[in-house]
Amino acid sequence: MSFQRVSTGITGLDEMLGGGYPQGGIMLVSGGPGSGKTINSLQYTAAAIARNEPVVYVNLEEPMDNKKGYAKNFGWDLDEAEANGLLISLDFVLSSTVDGIVEPKNRDTGVTELSLESEIFSAVNEINAQHVVLDPLNSVMINARGSEIRYLVHKLFETIREQNCTALITYEGVFDGTNFYSEMFLSDGVIALVKDLRDFEIIKTVRIDKMRGIDFDDQPRRYTISNNGMVIFNKEPVLI
Ligand SMILES: Nc1ncnc2c1ncn2[C@@H]1O[C@H](COP(=O)(O)OP(=O)(O)OP(=O)(O)O)[C@@H](O)[C@H]1O
Ligand SMILES: [Mg+2]
Repeated sequence: MSFQRVSTGITGLDEMLGGGYPQGGIMLVSGGPGSGKTINSLQYTAAAIARNEPVVYVNLEEPMDNKKGYAKNFGWDLDEAEANGLLISLDFVLSSTVDGIVEPKNRDTGVTELSLESEIFSAVNEINAQHVVLDPLNSVMINARGSEIRYLVHKLFETIREQNCTALITYEGVFDGTNFYSEMFLSDGVIALVKDLRDFEIIKTVRIDKMRGIDFDDQPRRYTISNNGMVIFNKEPVLI
């Protein structure tokens, strides 16, 4: 089985994947604080918009206006994309009831919507979106435990799969190779943004932990974030 590929928007990462993410897959981009998850998600969004492929960006933590500001610094105008019908940004604060139901409250209107899934569903239909981006997944799991987490994540992923979108979902977490979480198993791909300390130097690397159905470069590779966004040095070994 060969997949159509979707560009990650990131120089070097497409090469590591042999062309990009498998189309229709759900990708988890994980990492610790400040590792570049949000920038990675914005870069993916901007690249899709540049190809005229509509995106639904689901924002669950940092206000969307902040992110639009970061995006502008990199030269990506999300307001313009929204005006052109290439982007819908959903800006929610999630809370959960005692019954474990997650309720999304619209940050602009203050209105509590029925469910995150139904909001994503109608936004995708409204602009015929080919991509769903969500930052970060952890908000969906607030107050949930064990099997509940698996259920909530499964429900969200099913909604995205039914719409035939490719999804990039960020995850606040550092995987050390011994801890595994259900989110990693439910997704089709896992990218880890890792910071290591070696001789008083921070080394930032990206690693592809899993990518269902395709062959990929499984070695860690260095990355930087600059005014051009995230760049991956996929041709160089980590230690020179
Ligand atoms: N224009 C820029 N030039 C260089 N580096 C930048 C620029 N903008 C942001 N950064 C770097 O990117 C880092 C933050 O990236 P980002 O917000 O994507 O991280 P994150 O993983 O989403 O963090 P959090 O978990 O806190 O949400 C900053 O700490 C900063 O070092
Ligand atoms: Mg972030």
